[in-house]
Amino acid sequence: MQDVKTVIENLSDEIRQHEYRYYVLDDPMISDAEYDQLMQKLTKLEDENPQFRSSDSPTQRVGGKSLEGFSSVRHRNPLLSLDNAFSYADLVEFDKRINKIVDQPHYMAEFKIDGLSVALIYQNGVLHQAATRGDGVSGEDVTLNVKTIRSIPLKLKQAYSRVEVRGEIYMPKKEFLRLNIERDEQEEKPFANPRNAAAGSIRQLDSKVTAQRSLSAFIYDLLYMEGETVESQEETLSFLLEQGLPVNQQAKYCENIEEVFDFCMRVQEQRHELPYDIDGVVVKLDDISVRSDLGQTAKSPRWAIAYKFPAEEKETILRGVELNVSRTGLIAPTAILDSVNLAGSTVSRASLHNFDLIAEKDIRIGDVVLVHKAGDIIPEVLGPVIEKRKGNEQTIMVPEICPACGSHAVRSEDEVAYRCENINCPARLKESLVFFASRDAMDIEGMGPAVIDQLVEQGLVQNVADLYVLDEQKLATMERMGVKSAENLMQAIEASKTRSLGRLITALGIRHIGAKSARLLTQYLFTIDDFYQATVESLLQINDIGPRMAESLVYFFAEPRNRETIARLKEAGLNTMEEKQEDRALPLQGKTFVLTGTLETLGRNEAAEKIEALGGKVSGSVSKKTSYAVVGSEPGSKYDKAVQLGINILNEKDLLELLRES
Ligand code: IVH
Repeated sequence: MQDVKTVIENLSDEIRQHEYRYYVLDDPMISDAEYDQLMQKLTKLEDENPQFRSSDSPTQRVGGKSLEGFSSVRHRNPLLSLDNAFSYADLVEFDKRINKIVDQPHYMAEFKIDGLSVALIYQNGVLHQAATRGDGVSGEDVTLNVKTIRSIPLKLKQAYSRVEVRGEIYMPKKEFLRLNIERDEQEEKPFANPRNAAAGSIRQLDSKVTAQRSLSAFIYDLLYMEGETVESQEETLSFLLEQGLPVNQQAKYCENIEEVFDFCMRVQEQRHELPYDIDGVVVKLDDISVRSDLGQTAKSPRWAIAYKFPAEEKETILRGVELNVSRTGLIAPTAILDSVNLAGSTVSRASLHNFDLIAEKDIRIGDVVLVHKAGDIIPEVLGPVIEKRKGNEQTIMVPEICPACGSHAVRSEDEVAYRCENINCPARLKESLVFFASRDAMDIEGMGPAVIDQLVEQGLVQNVADLYVLDEQKLATMERMGVKSAENLMQAIEASKTRSLGRLITALGIRHIGAKSARLLTQYLFTIDDFYQATVESLLQINDIGPRMAESLVYFFAEPRNRETIARLKEAGLNTMEEKQEDRALPLQGKTFVLTGTLETLGRNEAAEKIEALGGKVSGSVSKKTSYAVVGSEPGSKYDKAVQLGINILNEKDLLELLRES
């Protein structure tokens, strides 16, 4: 029999191999569930035999306590930056300079990832230190945080005594959007773009926070390696990949500068479709041996240059400012613009952030303004084009009253925002109702903004509890309604009464408590009465519930008006209890599902939630052990793989039937 140490080592290697396939090659061999099982097995073995737990074990990505601060690290050689090229002429100029020294230079053209630069040191194959670029000469030691990034291996394939590499840490666009929605829910300031979000996440003193941010990385340079040398950039990239490091696979070897420029143009065109932000193409002389002959300027080498994409900014006319009142009373200004095509889509509205910013930039109605997309995603007004002013532009006034209810708009001391503090404000009520009925909350189909507007305006609903005492006949007389829709809506309202306690807590719209925290809370508090009884101290015992959330919950449940609403909801027959895990029937336990393509009625999130509620697992990749592949429209390669492996294929209707029968 193998000794425990060998078992732990083999299992660690197996997991590393799966991480490499998943995070670096984007080609997993096993399902997420199987990966989780391997990790659990390893964690258990290490817990039982802590003497064999090594610092490069796959279980050791998040560890230890928060830091007091980051220590400074001096780089072996300064980490240089690059000169920029903005045109074909600039590239030709660069090529000419190189031609003086090198005959027929070849180039590697690589994506210029818009993230933050880091240097990693591997000692005897093990990740020893990670440092930010800082000012190029020295940076900060962010090793603990970098270890949480799954695509960065804690151990290389070969145990060279010392390998130093450089790369870029970035936040995928999707994660950036998710994080900002979460921050918005928690009333934290959103990040301006994925780069800032990545930098903010790497500079967290608590690595547990970094671990929740789904950062990723691409490595593009070998700074130092004891013993061996590489001849070219192409070889460097292959070496890095062979060692298990995440290398961007879209780099292109180019015979000449024309090919480089073609590549730049193609990438410039297609970049909005990438899952991460890039701001240009880095062009590197492929032959490494002649690089030193070319030398460098103060900050940048002469053998490489960054072709920067033109900033995606457009001019358009600001026609007006719309004021939107959120559920929490925040009065937010949105610019109404003449439509422009920007970074791959048509834009006619854009964020103006807040009134301080409007004043600071002196943005006026009628101005020609410059717009762009923050992080390639969110349209924003950058500022007015002053030269194009005609003189008849109008100053944008700060709101003195709420545009919806006319009550005094309040500016609190610690905020740049203006708020409506009238909790009976119809705009706030409408937003709360829309939120209450939304898909991630009570999921009342057909209860959208158009219906809610009418319900509020006709005085039929003043409170979420009023939704449960609506009169079907009255509904039928509303605009764009009719008997059939009213009947359907009543059924949808009725169906919402059985939603989980987590959804009800989400739907109540308690400040700082989003869907994720609500679900987490119901793992500890099983009835609405448990919520009444919770204290700040008891809530703080729950991991991931911080003081702001705890205080907000206690405040919410202490408020008599909220208690009255909840009592009415309970009386109307809404479910206010969470089934404890052990009491639940779990007919799908042991079954693994893979979802691919668009599911028309359910949507992927909801399908996953339903499967998990019945004990099933949802995995990101197909393997022999997958029980069912659920296939929507335009499925991905997972479908082909499922067919190949002979997995049971379900369409959405089959899935719904299975869920109903289970
Ligand atoms: S090469 C001396 N390659 O762009 C070589 N840089 O100003 C220097 N970057 O600070 C870097 N993607 O953070 C290189 N494929 C890539 C890159 C890249 C992004 C960043 C890097 C650097 C900046 C250049």
